[in-house]
Amino acid sequence: MAMTGVLRPGYIQIRVLDREAALKHYVDILGLSVVSSEEDGRIYLKAWDEFDRHSIILRPTDNAGFDVIGFKVDSDASLVEFERRIKDYGYKVDHVAAGEQPGVGRRIAVQVASGHRIELFAEMEGSETAPPVYNPDIWRDVPHGMGAIRFDHALLYGPNVDEVLDFFTKVLDFSLTEKVELPDGLLAIWLTCSTKAHDIAFVKHPEPGKFHHVSFFLEDWNAVGHAADLITRFNVSLDIGPTRHGITRGQTIYFFDPSGNRCETYCGGTTYYPDQPVRVWDDKELGKGIFYYERALNDRFLTVLT
Ligand SMILES: [Fe+2]
Repeated sequence: MAMTGVLRPGYIQIRVLDREAALKHYVDILGLSVVSSEEDGRIYLKAWDEFDRHSIILRPTDNAGFDVIGFKVDSDASLVEFERRIKDYGYKVDHVAAGEQPGVGRRIAVQVASGHRIELFAEMEGSETAPPVYNPDIWRDVPHGMGAIRFDHALLYGPNVDEVLDFFTKVLDFSLTEKVELPDGLLAIWLTCSTKAHDIAFVKHPEPGKFHHVSFFLEDWNAVGHAADLITRFNVSLDIGPTRHGITRGQTIYFFDPSGNRCETYCGGTTYYPDQPVRVWDDKELGKGIFYYERALNDRFLTVLT
């Protein structure tokens, strides 16, 4: 599959309450590494199998939640083209100068109908601890904690999911891989810009701009089990799992950072190609769609957001 235009999720910026507690969670438990701490308070981190400088940005402040997700595009020419398409769609484009995030080139930003800020960028410095590429060992430094391989995707809650779907598919060339259709309309969408089951997902919710989870990819089901061992050993607040989703088929565990932001570590999942039909779930089997083994949703999963 020729992958052009939007390539993948590049970074996510998350608001956290307590800097030291957040670092313990994202570094010691999840297994990320600190790249830099900047004067404005933001901390930049990365997972061990990522080539770019950073992927996770923590911004200490007094309320937790989601600031922005940035997708990497294949070239500056694509940034120019996406800016034209976003404006033609009728949305406003913000510009962020190169260097606002260390090592990152110019960015364009749009607020989508769910109230979330989505950014696009083409350039980011390579990591000084990037994975080896010449006769490469499987990793450079021994992975620690849960051994998060990469920042994988995010799930966001907000209104106007139909319009979000229209924008992502028509303007940014994402594909819809799965959706939940209820009798009163579209509840949830899983969108990919690659061959992954999803790169971003949205669930309908009255309040705009809400954050459900940030997800990190793990190697296999044993690694998900190891993540569960760490969650219990270090008394991390657990949401649910280990279990499997019917939707995406990912094998997963959900837990909370000390600020109340939900994190996921998962493995597996379907592979998407553009000739595939959309998988559709309805209200009769939604429990199985979200949690395949429990076959029922828990209230916390639907209502606890930051
Ligand atoms: Fe997820």
